[in-house]
Amino acid sequence: MAKAKTQFICQNCGTVHNRWAGKCEGCGEWNTIVEEDPMGGIGSGPGKTPKKGRPVTLTSLSGEIEEAPRIPTGMSELDRATGGGFVRGSAVLIGGDPGIGKSTLLMQAAAALSRRGHRIVYVSGEEAVAQVRLRAQRLGAADTDVLLAAETNVEDILATISEGKRPDLIIIDSIQTLWSDTADSAPGTVTQVRTGVQAMIRFAKQTGATMVLVGHVTKDGQIAGPRVVEHMVDAVLYFEGDRGHHYRILRTVKNRFGPTDEIGVFEMSDKGLREVSNPSELFLGERNEKSPGAAVFAGMEGTRPVLVEVQALVAPTSLGTPRRAVVGWDSSRLAMILAVLEAHCGVKLGSHDVYLNVAGGYRISEPAADMAIASALVSSLAGVALPADCVYFGEVSLSGAVRTVSHTGQRLKEAEKLGFSAAFLPSASAELPKGAKGRWTEIESLPDLVSRIAGSASRFRQVEDE
Ligand code: TYD
Ligand code: MG
Repeated sequence: MAKAKTQFICQNCGTVHNRWAGKCEGCGEWNTIVEEDPMGGIGSGPGKTPKKGRPVTLTSLSGEIEEAPRIPTGMSELDRATGGGFVRGSAVLIGGDPGIGKSTLLMQAAAALSRRGHRIVYVSGEEAVAQVRLRAQRLGAADTDVLLAAETNVEDILATISEGKRPDLIIIDSIQTLWSDTADSAPGTVTQVRTGVQAMIRFAKQTGATMVLVGHVTKDGQIAGPRVVEHMVDAVLYFEGDRGHHYRILRTVKNRFGPTDEIGVFEMSDKGLREVSNPSELFLGERNEKSPGAAVFAGMEGTRPVLVEVQALVAPTSLGTPRRAVVGWDSSRLAMILAVLEAHCGVKLGSHDVYLNVAGGYRISEPAADMAIASALVSSLAGVALPADCVYFGEVSLSGAVRTVSHTGQRLKEAEKLGFSAAFLPSASAELPKGAKGRWTEIESLPDLVSRIAGSASRFRQVEDE
């Protein structure tokens, strides 16, 4: 029998390499490749006699579905992100940086579900029972019937949840602490994490219980990241946020049973996570309306409009290569906007440092933010504050043209609701809200936008000079 070769597996993305390397070709992360024994997998590889297959019963597409497929938690932000509640028999992965609040969120969800009469099992592999109890007390969840276990062994967990009445929902916190007797690798490696998760998913599919799996996002490759199991689960949610801020965003990345562009917004308080049903008010909370370089972007997250302030600072540089620093937006998109400003609008930023920040630790992924970013940049360079009651949206193309974006009506309605009476938007935007009282300025191209902002700047200077 040929000797089984060891494999080198990236702990971040699971790519298999023949030899060790500093950088993973698959995901570009450094120091994430670890040597693992492929025989440690689940009953695979040579040396084991293949068992004789057993035919399964084929069935039809139509037929009885036994139970209501979803269990809503009653936490509207969480239900929104999952597409209306946890689906029975499905496996959901909740990923996020350590300390962001995953255990807090799930303890609150467990308590809410338990109050609705569901049987919930919370398996903690990271914290001792006393620690989990302490958190539950802090969250006001201690009086609920959530069943708790501190366990990391996959076989023991399965034996526990198979016993007695089937749980409606099982929370495994976290997948990186799971270890199975059938895999030889150390806990936290790709092989162990995959084996454990596979066993949990199998349990969910067989029994109809919902399996919620917590996965820590890791940067250093010490333990396998949640990406190595993303393809196995039915839904992937990431819990994001900035440690310096209290906002937390639950973002759907994959969902076999619902939309993937929804977000749930929470605020971390001393009594746990509070749901934020109107995120715009939150992100606009700390506005400084009179300072140059700030523009309000009317964005969309899934079906929900979100208003957020973008802040730009353009300052002469003392460096050979000017700095470009971006928080909350794509830096290559910023480079593109700067290039368009330079090529088509005569706005020279080659000798200026550019800093860009999205307020509140929020992350914008929409290209529709282009116009808000450009406005903030020009406003900062010209030293003139933009009108406080105006929102901006529109995508900028390389030719400098401003393209229309979707959901114009919804963006404007949200803006009006929050007291904004003006908007700069792409020309030929359909679906302008009827009967709206706002002042809508249709912008055809970026030079048009720049001349409007700079035009107000020169008027501003004249007033000052007088
Ligand atoms: P936790 O849920 O343990 O994070 P994770 O499971 O993602 O690692 O929460 C971590 C942080 O949240 C911790 O620093 C303390 C803070 N926190 C609060 O601010 N308020 C609370 O009510 C709770 C329970 C935690
Ligand atoms: Mg935790």
